[in-house]
Amino acid sequence: MAKRQFLIVGNWKMYPQTRKEASTIFGKLAPRGRTFGRARVVVALPYPYLALFRRTKTIALGAQDVFWVPEGSFTGEVSGPMLRSFNVRYVIIGHSERRIHLGETDDMVAKKLQYALSARLRPIVCVGETKRDADGAFFAILKRQVESAFAKVRRREARRAIIAYEPVWAIGSGRPAHPKDAAEAALFIKKILADRYGVGIVRKILVLYGGSVDAQNAAAFLAEREIGGLLVGRGSRKPKEFLEIIKCVRSVS
Ligand code: PGA
Repeated sequence: MAKRQFLIVGNWKMYPQTRKEASTIFGKLAPRGRTFGRARVVVALPYPYLALFRRTKTIALGAQDVFWVPEGSFTGEVSGPMLRSFNVRYVIIGHSERRIHLGETDDMVAKKLQYALSARLRPIVCVGETKRDADGAFFAILKRQVESAFAKVRRREARRAIIAYEPVWAIGSGRPAHPKDAAEAALFIKKILADRYGVGIVRKILVLYGGSVDAQNAAAFLAEREIGGLLVGRGSRKPKEFLEIIKCVRSVS
């Protein structure tokens, strides 16, 4: 069987405060000639920093949000063509912090997903429950989030979407999900998409895990076959830690 490939995404969120600090971190991640083997690495940066760095052969650039039309009177928003003109390939959509602090709804997430795909970006759609109950009601939340995000997406385009399973309670808490539970959620997400688009989609679609990933636990998530990579917040802003996380792909078969 072909060796698995992984996608490791760093989400810098609204850090660091200065361009100088951003350059230092990026510089440590991407010295000339560095390769990451079976890991495709993306860093999702605050908008101003996207203009600062060039994607390298091994590190692709990602944004943390995108609006749903190419241009217009939408103060403060940024569009797909703008991102593409800075060589941005990936975009995070519907992160729980945007859902919580900026009131982003399932409907907005759906518009952004559909638009990002049509703008030839690779969207990373975040879904995840706020709490885990013993009865498994969180499965219904995941189902609603996934179904509504993909409501208007056609099969051919759906294949290019990436989904990040990020339980909200695990983000920034130092309490990651159990890798088996994350794998179960990833399988469940694939099942929802298979019901909608046919089982063929399962081989194409990538589901990442995110929420308190660090160099100690990354390998255990990657070892789960349903998990195609990681979305890393805090750990991605510490170059040494992020490089250790990326290195974990080597130990996974
Ligand atoms: P964390 O964040 O790794 O700091 O928990 C993950 C995320 O919010 O994407």
